[in-house]
Amino acid sequence: MVKRAAPINIEQPHALSGIELADLCEAAESAIIDGGGFGWLKPPPRKTLEAFWNGVLLVPDKTLFVGRVDARLAGSAILTRFPRNNEAQRHTGNISNIFVAPWARGRGLARGLVRACELFARKQGITFINLDVRATQAAAVRLYESLDYTRWGENQNYAIVEGKPVVGFYYTKRLKTHPKRNTSHLRSQNNLNDIVSSY
Ligand SMILES: CC(C)(COP(=O)(O)OP(=O)(O)OC[C@H]1O[C@@H](n2cnc3c(N)ncnc32)[C@H](O)[C@@H]1OP(=O)(O)O)[C@@H](O)C(=O)NCCC(=O)NCCS
Repeated sequence: MVKRAAPINIEQPHALSGIELADLCEAAESAIIDGGGFGWLKPPPRKTLEAFWNGVLLVPDKTLFVGRVDARLAGSAILTRFPRNNEAQRHTGNISNIFVAPWARGRGLARGLVRACELFARKQGITFINLDVRATQAAAVRLYESLDYTRWGENQNYAIVEGKPVVGFYYTKRLKTHPKRNTSHLRSQNNLNDIVSSY
């Protein structure tokens, strides 16, 4: 019998159920243990992670995107824009906290998460996306470069891991506009999958 690949979905939740929160925490813990947990080096207490995700949902300038494999949440990305008083940078956004649980990798979740951030950013009038990553996160470096992010700088003292400094890479991208692309038929705000894959 041919085994079908589990469906993936990219979503922009406004709230997380208890199960979704637990899935996201578990996914983050496994990514941290694997060595790539968006800044965490050791899994923090579960309550700290829960407070982190719940906090993100409360901040008006942050938008959370999550990736789902079958029914389980398995990764996230956060788009942050500058506060309104920063008029000069209102066209700039930052993508951070991208991770995918090790068991869910290699299915296009991270690519979908970045694209969802970009699509949402464009709708918000954002023109430039900035992001940064440890040079040692080879998969993430490849991901961003494959999505046309330009590396503009390096910081030799970006982070300290196991007592040693780790280089950081800084990326930027000017978002393209697709004036002819019509996405009005894609009505569901909660399920961005169709939009992400059509873009
Ligand atoms: C980076 C990461 C998010 C990729 O997640 P993923 O869902 O497996 O990635 P995708 O399946 O969407 O892959 C998209 C592209 O990323 C790159 N990529 C993903 N995994 C890779 C790997 N192991 N080696 C090299 N490139 C890789 C490739 O360019 C890939 O495109 P391709 O499949 O056409 O070659 C995941 O490996 C991860 O969580 N790493 C640890 C956390 C981290 O580094 N976060 C970023 C910094 S905060």
